[in-house]
Amino acid sequence: MSLLKLFVILSISGLFLVVGYGIFINLFDFLEINVTPLPFCPEISPLTVGIQPVKWQIQTWYSMMENQTELQPGGHYTPQNCKSRHRVAIIVPYRNRNAHLRIFLNNIHPFLQRQQLDYRIFIIQQLKTGPFNRGMLMNIGFTEAQRIYNFTCFIFHDVDLIPENDKNPYNCVDSPRHLSVAVDVFKYQLPFKNIFGGAIAMQADQFKSVNGFSNQFFGWGGEDDDLFNRVNKKMMSIFRYSEEISRYTMIKHVKQYPNPSRFKILKESNYEVDGLNSLNYKLDLIEERNLFTLVAVDLKPA
Ligand code: BGC
Ligand code: MN
Repeated sequence: MSLLKLFVILSISGLFLVVGYGIFINLFDFLEINVTPLPFCPEISPLTVGIQPVKWQIQTWYSMMENQTELQPGGHYTPQNCKSRHRVAIIVPYRNRNAHLRIFLNNIHPFLQRQQLDYRIFIIQQLKTGPFNRGMLMNIGFTEAQRIYNFTCFIFHDVDLIPENDKNPYNCVDSPRHLSVAVDVFKYQLPFKNIFGGAIAMQADQFKSVNGFSNQFFGWGGEDDDLFNRVNKKMMSIFRYSEEISRYTMIKHVKQYPNPSRFKILKESNYEVDGLNSLNYKLDLIEERNLFTLVAVDLKPA
């Protein structure tokens, strides 16, 4: 063998060694990143700052998306440096409130991220005209969210409520929780003791045990009062944090015409036969948008 040949063979094998070693090291790094579990996030997030002014500017979808670099498709977020203690589904009933939705998302994403939550935002859109059914859309959100992830906590949230204080934890406790205790339009005071509307948090088992919301409330009002009754019937009590923490701004809008039959429906409501177990709808679209998971449906009265 000539010296030249030997030289070429040695150089080529050397090259293979170097490249092979490189691949090996990279693979090792890669595996190490994926195998070493992240530590749990602290019980109380060090990233929260307290009361923050509402950001009212209505941004374009594009600029909101550009600001949310850490968000995964479908409006799903997980903290990068620690494993969240809570897997939270935010369920938001929706129809024809584009400006509200943009203000909501632009405020709520940074808010939830400061709490180091593993969360996903679900926008449940009622497609057809006709009276809005908030309770039914909540039930659909719960049902569809459970299909895609093992959430520990469900937050049922109006699109026109903006939480002001990020010390208000968007997680669940052993009792169903009422979040929107102090809303600006009610002078930051609880309007009445049994109010259970606006924003609430329930664990999956709590929500299942009351059979979810009633599907019978078409139009404004009553479905939240009915959920309150359901929770009471199941001997659960409602938990609230202080008014200082549970502060909200409501986005101004014309009040919907209240459903005059709501008191009658409330009286006749039977949680055993009306709720998650009698839910009927047509799923038109479920799609991972950049800032949320869209669930668009046609409601079918039971
Ligand atoms: C309605 C509820 C509503 C509450 C506060 C009640 O009369 O039935 O749906 O949340 O008023 O506005
Ligand atoms: Mn409203």
